[in-house]
Amino acid sequence: MQGSLSSLEVVILAAGQGRRMASARPKVLHTLAGQPLLAHVLKAAQNLKPRAIHVVYGHGGDAVRAAFPQAPVNWVLQATQRGTGDAVSCALAQLGAEARVLVLLGDVPLITQATLEGLCARSASGLALLTFHAPGPNQYGRIVRNSQGLVERIVEWRDASPAERALTEVNSGILAASAENLRRWLPRLTSANAQGELYLTDIVALARADKVAVEAIQPTTLYEVQGVNSRSDLAGLERAFQYESAQALMAAGVQLMDPSRVDVRGTLTAGRDVLIDVDCVFEGDVTLGDGVTVGPHCFVRNSCLGEGAQIESHSVIDGAHIGSRAHVGPFARLRPGTRLDQETRVGNFVEVKASSVGAHSKVNHLSYIGDATIGEHVNVGAGVITCNYDGARKHRTIIGDKAFIGSDSQLVAPVEIGQGATIGAGSTVTKDAPAGELTLSRTAQKTVSGWRRPEK
Ligand code: UD1
Ligand code: CA
Repeated sequence: MQGSLSSLEVVILAAGQGRRMASARPKVLHTLAGQPLLAHVLKAAQNLKPRAIHVVYGHGGDAVRAAFPQAPVNWVLQATQRGTGDAVSCALAQLGAEARVLVLLGDVPLITQATLEGLCARSASGLALLTFHAPGPNQYGRIVRNSQGLVERIVEWRDASPAERALTEVNSGILAASAENLRRWLPRLTSANAQGELYLTDIVALARADKVAVEAIQPTTLYEVQGVNSRSDLAGLERAFQYESAQALMAAGVQLMDPSRVDVRGTLTAGRDVLIDVDCVFEGDVTLGDGVTVGPHCFVRNSCLGEGAQIESHSVIDGAHIGSRAHVGPFARLRPGTRLDQETRVGNFVEVKASSVGAHSKVNHLSYIGDATIGEHVNVGAGVITCNYDGARKHRTIIGDKAFIGSDSQLVAPVEIGQGATIGAGSTVTKDAPAGELTLSRTAQKTVSGWRRPEK
């Protein structure tokens, strides 16, 4: 088996338009768990460490290639989509003479490494198919077996008789064979069928005619072999994927208040005793330290949350680094480049961007903090705004340790507030404020005695 795998080459069919998606986008670029379908298939292929991966592309070809600029694959153009058999034929010339070939479909995204290894191992004797049992209505190709139970041929749903359509063993589309056999069979395909296409599935009957053994194995789980032909299929597979990912998180010690109401679109790494409330979405690379709690309805992308950090409901956290025991939200928005040190507090309706907030500092209510460096033990009052943009460039605001910024102040950058400085509420600060002093910019308050409000 070692020998056969060292000659493994994978061919991924990804040239189809995906008409049933009713979309301008090529089907393999539709996303599942935040990644294009083709990315999932490529990952499965790469896990097998094949000698080469050939991707047959065509419809929307430039967009498909552009979406994978770094992928170590050999792109094979199928200019006209004449069917899955024609698609594999396009790659034939590129395959090594003695290659063992695994064919994957770009629209069957969740296939696992273990199943594919099993399939490749069984292909040594001839042709190995991955089939599954799908009771109920569906349009997969039907596996026709003879009276001894041996696979005879595959009949496509559109070509199948009512009796054939009643068969419940169906074709996943994934198969493995030698390049040598494919070179013998593919030129013999014809398009005499309901779709006028060259069906890869017809090689099964050709193998039988050549007395080549046809083996069929089944995957352990159904979602591995489910194809995406419609948006409904895609939504169904997304749920299957998210269900699996939620089970894995719980097995690793994460408490999910409702495993059907958390979506992970990337990699979520969590420590012990993490609690995630309902309707949270995690995107990209997210790390949650031990004891982190994430309240309901939060969105977290490419962020790292330190041990014991608490995120309250409806917070949006993107590209942020949050220190241990920090407290964020509800309704906070942390944008890329935010760094909150330990035990900081960022409260409701506060937006922070490209700024650092030192340990024990608080920005609790209704603020915008952009391009700022805030020291430790600073108190930023309600409604404080850093005016970081002059219409052309961004400028920084620096606030020293233990400073106190009175509510409703505007800090017009570039500006620096010294250590321990106090800014009086309602100030517009345009010049540096010295350390330890009270600075304020307010017109003096006056009272007009005896003034009367007009009456109707
Ligand atoms: C195919 C199988 C069917 C199987 C099903 C499993 C054939 C003839 N039928 O049907 O037996 O049950 O998959 O999901 O193989 N493609 C190309 N070039 C083409 C045509 C298709 O690259 O000319 C690619 C598509 O992009 C897609 C894959 O091949 O990724 C399958 O094509 P699709 O048209 O979706 O085939 P199905 O009708 O689903
Ligand atoms: Ca399909």
